[in-house]
Amino acid sequence: MVRVITYGTFDLLHEGHYRLLQRAKQLGDYLIVGVTSEEYDQARGKLNVIDSLMTRIENVKKTGFADEIIVEESQGQKFRDIKKYNIDIFTVGSDWMGQFDYLKEYCEVIYLDRTKNISSTMLRTQKASIQRIGIIGTGRIANRFMLEAALVSGVNTQSVYNPHIKSAQIFANRWGIDAYEDLEQFYESLDIVYIASPHETHYAYIKQALERGKHVLCEKPMCLFVGQSEELFELARKNNLVLFEGIKTAYCPCFTKLLGIACGGTIGAIKDVEACFTKLEDDCNRELKDTKYGGSFTELGSYCLLPILKIYGHDYEDIQFETVRNASGIDIYTKAYLRYPNGLATAKCGLGVKSEGKLLISGTKGYITAEAPWWKTNYFEVHRENPEDVERFSERFLGDGLRYEISDLLSMINGDRKKDFKLTRGDSVTMAGIMEKFLRSQGRV
Ligand code: CTP
Repeated sequence: MVRVITYGTFDLLHEGHYRLLQRAKQLGDYLIVGVTSEEYDQARGKLNVIDSLMTRIENVKKTGFADEIIVEESQGQKFRDIKKYNIDIFTVGSDWMGQFDYLKEYCEVIYLDRTKNISSTMLRTQKASIQRIGIIGTGRIANRFMLEAALVSGVNTQSVYNPHIKSAQIFANRWGIDAYEDLEQFYESLDIVYIASPHETHYAYIKQALERGKHVLCEKPMCLFVGQSEELFELARKNNLVLFEGIKTAYCPCFTKLLGIACGGTIGAIKDVEACFTKLEDDCNRELKDTKYGGSFTELGSYCLLPILKIYGHDYEDIQFETVRNASGIDIYTKAYLRYPNGLATAKCGLGVKSEGKLLISGTKGYITAEAPWWKTNYFEVHRENPEDVERFSERFLGDGLRYEISDLLSMINGDRKKDFKLTRGDSVTMAGIMEKFLRSQGRV
């Protein structure tokens, strides 16, 4: 009996997949099909897969060619599967030509001609028209956004607005996009606005964009006042638009895994969450010059609050702030202490004080640690009473991570995912409330 194996994502199953499976089956007597897991696709940078793993498996099953279906979960699995399933022939489409020659030592490797003019990528693009993105703001993060958005299929960044037209033009020339001076014309040029302007300008831009029927992705902190946050989410809901706060950690696969493990009871009941993020900034940067809305907490607090709110929820009983300020009165170091009915939390942020960036989650049976840069999570450990009992988890974090949030935003806009869970409306509203409390505690508003 000749045993054949092939692998793929098989998203939006199409004729190319059908023909591949048909020919793979004809190569032998027994065909095993490996379908990639969602996590594995994410880890290898395939972020826009629409069908769930179960749907993709069902679709492969329906072709009638697979004698057995397995899930491909990691790199290196092919090698193991070939041994485990006694494979005689490994086959894939010719787009992979040469890439699996290393398996020739263990079985025959056959590249089948790829069917022309069809792919899942093509279907995904046809299914939903390309979303045009326009950027407000031209700072460092806007530059990173350009690089990351280019890696997400289904979006095209094509315009930029900055009230200082010179900055917009420089940015536009660098990236080959259009600069706008007129805000109305700018809004007309796009479907999604990415807002990366100073914190206090977010509210007005978001409101304008939502009123003009545009989806919004806004850098953190999206709002500094709870009332504004509630109002904007309500406006988005009424106008059937997606409003997304860009805290990249929330959308990163390894962080989602960490939360899953933390909340799944592995370390018992969680009693303390300590999150620290510091980044030394130049005194002349906006973050350390803006005496009203600048400083460490407004700049970095969203990252540190994220694991706290995801673990304990929104109903904290008390919050207190302690700050170290510079000569202009701006907080260069802030500690926020939160008390929940069942536990404690600390968010520690610094722009002018350096500390060890760490996320530490302590429970009744153990603790979880993630070292800096935990806000771009790619590794964490689970510890228990016995110091030798350590479980290690890792997941790739690609590039600057913005691609994950852009691709999540896109699936919300295209209706492929209906509900937000990684960063909910409630999370964003609660964070805005905390920002407001902080500004009031400092007598800034
Ligand atoms: N395949 C094929 N002909 C096509 C498309 C895919 O023979 N037109 C083959 C691939 O070579 C692979 C298998 O089908 O062996 C599964 O491929 P997959 O990556 O799931 O499909 P694509 O359509 O290439 O997906 P994407 O566009 O997301 O890369």
